[in-house]
Amino acid sequence: MTRETWATRTGFILAAAGSAVGLGNIWRFPWMTAENGGSAFLLVYLVIVLGVGVPGLLGEFVIGRRARRNPVGALRDLSGSRTWAAVGGISAITGVALLSFYSVVGGWILRYLLVSLAGPFTGGAAYLADPGAYFGSISFGVGAAGYHLLFLALTGLIVLGGVRRGIELGTKVMMPAVLALLVGMAVWVSTQSGAGAGYDFFLTFDLETIRANFFSILGPAAGQALFTLSVGAGTMITYASYIDEDRSLPFDGSVIALLNTGVGVLAGLVVFPLLFSQGIDPGSGGPGTLFVGIAGAFGALPGGEALSILFFGVVAFAALSSSISMLEIPVAVLVDEVGWSRRRAVGTLLALIATTGTITAFQPALFGFVSGTLVDFLLTGGLLAFLLFAGWVLGRDAVAEYVTGAGPIATRLATPWLFAVGVVIPVFLTFTLLTTAG
Ligand code: PHE
Ligand code: NA
Repeated sequence: MTRETWATRTGFILAAAGSAVGLGNIWRFPWMTAENGGSAFLLVYLVIVLGVGVPGLLGEFVIGRRARRNPVGALRDLSGSRTWAAVGGISAITGVALLSFYSVVGGWILRYLLVSLAGPFTGGAAYLADPGAYFGSISFGVGAAGYHLLFLALTGLIVLGGVRRGIELGTKVMMPAVLALLVGMAVWVSTQSGAGAGYDFFLTFDLETIRANFFSILGPAAGQALFTLSVGAGTMITYASYIDEDRSLPFDGSVIALLNTGVGVLAGLVVFPLLFSQGIDPGSGGPGTLFVGIAGAFGALPGGEALSILFFGVVAFAALSSSISMLEIPVAVLVDEVGWSRRRAVGTLLALIATTGTITAFQPALFGFVSGTLVDFLLTGGLLAFLLFAGWVLGRDAVAEYVTGAGPIATRLATPWLFAVGVVIPVFLTFTLLTTAG
């Protein structure tokens, strides 16, 4: 039996980019940046994206394409060791943990979309009158749990229906739409009074601030860098297991990282000036930072109502193309390794995540822990394991896989990459884990 591959030549890069670009860029990034002091966080984060995220992404690609298996099967088959299989199994747990909060946030997005759609009939979208109070009233509780279930059900239907082709196509539309929307809004926002303080907060690097806060920024910045690239969870191992030999992994990885970083930085260029122009302290919003900031634009912009529908619609799509990649990890493990049918795997996992997510939707403190510290920890630890595997178990085979389909420049970088992946980055990740734990 030949293994399923992506529907089209661009299928892989679209799906992987669809996984990367999501709520991590548009919702979590502004929140984490606000909470960790603005520009200091941004700089540390960008350095980690480039120095750790991209090589790490390539590490997962190499493992996935080499093994053509889910994370458990990949680590087992390539090493012949059950211990490594168990290490791969952690990524199934990570997938469940991620979805337990991600679908709560996806639910918020769906709710804002529906409320925006209802706006014209109800005398303006409900969140416009007092964005902070509105977010506070809907973010946790019965409503949040209900919308979480809706988002989760949509995720399950897509994964079950095998409409991957639809997602690949949809991503083609979503990417330019996200970029165009954010660029347009960023330009408009720059004309608002008070926006300047937002740019100062987001962009004015001050090395002294970075130095003074380095150890507290490091863990969250690393976590966010990995989260936004969908690295450390095994997603990219799973997606890369369906790629053809002729794709250049370094090229595809660089395109994805560039796109993904662009969307995040643009989101910051929209949200922070908006917050400051409304006189809102960015550090005060927590997970509501995006929702409270962006409402200011929809209230003030000409055509803001239509724009809000477009915005939340596009973001909902971006969120779904990421959430399906989270669910796909444990599904692939159960189907390939345990021998379950796809239907049984999806059904069981949905029941599990419906439960864990509902608990999260009622507990703001738990939500904060799972979506913050726990994610940072799981992804950092997960990537550490994958890279040690690529560097020490695969070794020269990793290089061989890396250069397959790659151009001359990427090929020249293969050996330095192996050294980074086997030695430098693991040291960095271990250090980061220690600062988070301590
Ligand atoms: N990268 C996705 C985002 O930014 C989240 C994600 C993390 C998806 C890990 C899959 C695995 O929204
Ligand atoms: Na992302």
